Amino acid sequence: MGNHHLVFILCLILTCISFADVECVNEWIRNQIQPSTSNKQFPKNFSFGVATAAYQIEGAWNEDSKAPSIWDIYTHTHPERIADHSNGDNAAESYHRFEQDLVALKELKVNFYRFSISWCRVLPYADTSVKNQKAIDYYNMVIDKLLENHIEPMVTMFHYDTPEELSKFGGFTNDIVIKYFRSYADFLFETFGDRVKKWITFNEPFDYCVPGYGNANYPPMIHAPGVADYLCMDNTLRAHASAYRLYRAKYFHSQRGKVGITISSRFYYTPKANEPNDVVDRAIQYSLGWLAHPIFGKSGNYPYTVIEDITSNSMKEGLAWSRLRPLNLYWSKIIKGSGDFLGLNYYTSRYVQMSDPPAGATPSWEHDSRLKYSVDESWKRAKSDWLYCVPQGLEDILKWIRDNYDNVEVYITENGWSDEGELMDTGRIDYLKTHLRAVLNAINDGCNVTHYSHWSLIDNFEWNKGFTEKFGLYYLNMTSENKERVAKNSAHYYRSVIESREISSGDNYV
Ligand code: NOJ
Repeated sequence: MGNHHLVFILCLILTCISFADVECVNEWIRNQIQPSTSNKQFPKNFSFGVATAAYQIEGAWNEDSKAPSIWDIYTHTHPERIADHSNGDNAAESYHRFEQDLVALKELKVNFYRFSISWCRVLPYADTSVKNQKAIDYYNMVIDKLLENHIEPMVTMFHYDTPEELSKFGGFTNDIVIKYFRSYADFLFETFGDRVKKWITFNEPFDYCVPGYGNANYPPMIHAPGVADYLCMDNTLRAHASAYRLYRAKYFHSQRGKVGITISSRFYYTPKANEPNDVVDRAIQYSLGWLAHPIFGKSGNYPYTVIEDITSNSMKEGLAWSRLRPLNLYWSKIIKGSGDFLGLNYYTSRYVQMSDPPAGATPSWEHDSRLKYSVDESWKRAKSDWLYCVPQGLEDILKWIRDNYDNVEVYITENGWSDEGELMDTGRIDYLKTHLRAVLNAINDGCNVTHYSHWSLIDNFEWNKGFTEKFGLYYLNMTSENKERVAKNSAHYYRSVIESREISSGDNYV
C-alpha cells in the first residue's frame, strides 16, 4: 500500500471519529447505507411534505359544537396515564392558529401538508344527522389557504381519535363502524373532494387497535388481547376498503383523486447473519403484512402464516372458531386492490428471533406471533425509548414492498425523531439526512416512492407521552400567549433539501 493510500485511510478514520458524536449513522449503518452512486437528486415529481394530526395540534376540544373523541375522555378521566398529566385540550391551538402553521409551511417550502380531520368535529354524532358547519368552514379555510399557497392538502380521515359516540357501542369492535366510516368518508369526499386529491383512510391501524382493544394502553382501554384488537383490525380493513370502493364508484370520475391507507412498520434483521431469514419475513407479515397483504398482496387475504398460526392457536385454546376470521370471497374481492398507494410510517427497526416458548398472554398478538425483538447497542436512541436511528431499515422495507407488492406506489407518510425540543437539533438533522438518503437509494433501485412527509411540522401532543417528547421541525412555545412556532435548525436543513432536491451534508445547520 502506497503512502497516499495510508494518508487517505487515516483521514477517513479521523473524519469518522469527528462525526461519530453528531451523526446517528453509526458503524453498523455506515457499512450499509452508501450514498447513491446514480441520481443525486430526487426526481422532479417527488413531493416533500410534513405531517400532523388533529388531536395532537388542534386544541379547541369542545368549541363550536365539537363532540368529544375517546382521547378527550381518556385524558380527562385518566390524567395519570399521560407522562406530564397533559391533554390535547389546547395543544398548539391550530384550530385558532392555522395562520401560524401556514407561515411555517411556507417557510419550509413544502409541496404538501398531511393533516387529519377530526371526525367528531365535523360530525358530532359520528353519523351524518348533524353536519357541523363551523368545522366544515375551518377545514375549508385550511384547504383553500394551502392551495392558494401551492401546498397540496393530503388528508387523513382517521388518526386515532374515534368519536366517543361510536365508542358507546363498541367502537372498532362493532362492525357497524364500517357503515359509519363509509358515510363519514362519503361526506368528506362530497364536501372537500373537489380540492383534496389525496386521501388516507386510516392512520396506523395496528397502533390504535392493539393498545386500544388489546392491552388497554390507549383509549378505549379494552383489555381483550388476541380478540378485540383483531376485530378492530378486521373492521378497520373492511371500513377502509368500503370507503375506497365508494370513492371509485361515486367520486373518482369527477374528482380524479387517490385513496390509500397508512400502515406503520419497522424492518427486521436477524442478530447473526447466518440465521434463517424466514423469521424476518414472518415479522414483516405480523406488522406491515397484516393489513397490507390483503390489499396489495396476491391472495386477497391475511398473510398465510398469520391465518394459519391464529387458527391453530385458537383450536388449541379450545375455541370453535378462529380469533382471526379469514376474509370470505365477498370481502376479499372488495379489499384486494383497494389502495392507489401504500402510506408507510417508518421510524425504526429491530433485530428479531423466534421466541420459544412464545411470550405474552394467551391469547395475544405477542403469543400468536412468537417473536422476540432486540436492538443493536450501537444504534443511537431518540428521546422516545422505542425510537432508534436505523435508516438502512427504511431502504430495506421499501425494497421489500417493491418485491412483494408489485412495486405499488408508496407515500412515506411519517418519519421523524424525538428530543427535548432544542433549537439546535443536530440529532433530527442527522436522522432526516440519513433517512432521505435511504429513500433516494431506494428510488435509484427502482422503488416507486413518490412522497416523503416528515413527522412533524410542530411539537405536539405525543399521546401517552404528553408534551415530553418533541418531534417538531418547529418548536412550540407552550407557555407564551401566542404559542409561537420557532424554526429549529432542522427546519432550515429540510428547506435546503426541498429547494435543492439534493441531500446536503447538513454541516451548515449544526
Ligand atoms: C405515529 C403516529 O401516527 C403519530 O401520531 C405519532 O405522534 C408518531 N408516530 C410519533 O410517535
